[in-house]
Amino acid sequence: MCGIFGIASTKSTRNKLYQGLMKLEYRGYDSSGISGSDISSKLTTIKATGPIKNLRTKLTSLTRITTGIAHTRWATHGEAILKNTHPHLSENISIVHNGIIENYIELKSLLKKKRYSFKSDTDSEVISHLIHMNYKKTKNMESSIISTTKILKGSYAIGCMNTNYPNTIFAACKGSPLIIGKGVNENFIASDITPILSDTKHYIPLDDNEFAKITPSKVSIFNANKKIIIKKVKTSKMNSEQSSLSGHKHFMHKEIYEQKPILKEMTSRYVGTNKILPNIFGPGTDKILENIDHIHFVACGTSYHASLVAKDWIEEYTTITCTAEVASEYKYKKINVLPKTLFVSISQSGETADTISSLKKALKLKYSNTLAICNVAESTLTRLSKLVFLMNAGPEISVASTKAFTSQLFTLLLLTIVISRKFGNIENRMVKDIYKISEIIDSLYKLETDIKKISTKFKNKEHTIFLGKGTSYPIALEAALKLKEISYIHASAYHSGELKHGPLALVDKKMPVVCFLPDNHLARLVLSNLAEVEARQGQTFIFTNKKIPKKNNKVEIIKMPDCPDLIAPILYIIPAQLLSYHVALRKKTDVDKPRNLAKSVTVE
Ligand code: G6P
Repeated sequence: MCGIFGIASTKSTRNKLYQGLMKLEYRGYDSSGISGSDISSKLTTIKATGPIKNLRTKLTSLTRITTGIAHTRWATHGEAILKNTHPHLSENISIVHNGIIENYIELKSLLKKKRYSFKSDTDSEVISHLIHMNYKKTKNMESSIISTTKILKGSYAIGCMNTNYPNTIFAACKGSPLIIGKGVNENFIASDITPILSDTKHYIPLDDNEFAKITPSKVSIFNANKKIIIKKVKTSKMNSEQSSLSGHKHFMHKEIYEQKPILKEMTSRYVGTNKILPNIFGPGTDKILENIDHIHFVACGTSYHASLVAKDWIEEYTTITCTAEVASEYKYKKINVLPKTLFVSISQSGETADTISSLKKALKLKYSNTLAICNVAESTLTRLSKLVFLMNAGPEISVASTKAFTSQLFTLLLLTIVISRKFGNIENRMVKDIYKISEIIDSLYKLETDIKKISTKFKNKEHTIFLGKGTSYPIALEAALKLKEISYIHASAYHSGELKHGPLALVDKKMPVVCFLPDNHLARLVLSNLAEVEARQGQTFIFTNKKIPKKNNKVEIIKMPDCPDLIAPILYIIPAQLLSYHVALRKKTDVDKPRNLAKSVTVE
């Protein structure tokens, strides 16, 4: 799973390749590399492990390159070490690959019999050797790439250079996104639109089983029969945004604080005095949503946690039945679609492979409609879904998702209100609750000093338990995920009532138990569950607006502001984000780029 960028040009492209690669770092940062050729068509390749900035010192050897392909890697097959870093070479052929070649072991042994030797442990290296082998036979790159992809099983986006084709990049894709950018006297390949935006807004998404030949002056797209395909050039509406830390130490911290203006802005954009504005999910959507009896939510990670809250909200206020599935499961399950079922995919990036393939599957089933809730315009998910809601929360840089989560929750709250209209007259009251978010949110940031102090108690822990009930359960899941992701402390989340069915065995005087306890009709039950922890001398950390006595110093109460129950999930996650941030700071981890993770997981 990785990011690909390439430029076919006659001018120097070294810096552009490096800058473009930086924009794709969210796809992985285990290692990175660039292959480029100069006017004499000599190929030079540089590689570095770790974040892309580690390539910087090696860039001098690329001073003269005009055309190049670049790659940032998230390791799937083979450790994150130099030999496994892309581009992979086979004599005069250099390739970069995103995806997984499922039959690489068979292909490797076939190539070994033909005397190809392998320098890496990756699945990708077979591609360079296969293209080389086919090129030796045909002396034609178009044919070589086509016959190579015919025997590949799995998913791929490939960028390739051959020194016999000066200033030329070849590309192919199936199941992994790739776009072709059309510039002035230079053309591009990229995993998404962001690295090309500073040069051009014109692009063509390459579809599955399509191929491209790119030179500085021409882009030709062809199919597996070598037939030229004429495709419409799209024009992006996105701007090349520069993200800066604006005085914060980390993007995660900045993004936690951005939640206030974003939610305020979303409120003014979509919420009227006592009603949600008409058709906020697109033209005619109020009518479409009125006709829904069931909803299937599909998402991954943090976005999946948002869907769990939505399921509870919608089922609470309507008679609509909802399911929420993680995308990696949805794809492989038999799905029963009843009439009037809406499919909703949720994704910050719109590039998560599992979510994309779930949507592709859904488009073939009998859903009445598909809606994507996404933060990135012109992403693969938004291109595929029939209805699209763009959250416009601005680029989220930190791998641990924060502002995307609360924006997703806000969007899903709007969805809940719109579809609950025909079930009773509650819109006015719910809208009043929405307006309270911006009133209350400031007081959450004021908790940071206390949270910072509490974070010391987690620093040396290896395990933690998170509890919640009702809509606080997905918040416990999300809070546990945040802690795991950036502090590397094991965190498991449970429905508080489930504790006694097993996890309680883990509780002793060293075990921190974090609980989200808004003062609602469930609070009494959660308090009983907490009593079970306290009876075993567990350390409790309770986020609550309920007045509960602090019995001893094993109980830590984080005093939350009073808030309507409806908006509690949006507010309770914010101090939990701050808690994991401060624990991570104490543990001195790389907060924005935690080990082994990537912002967007583009392989299945
Ligand atoms: C990765 C990220 C998570 C994110 C998940 C889904 O695993 O590290 O933070 O929640 O992907 O991403 P998406 O872009 O689809 O919301």
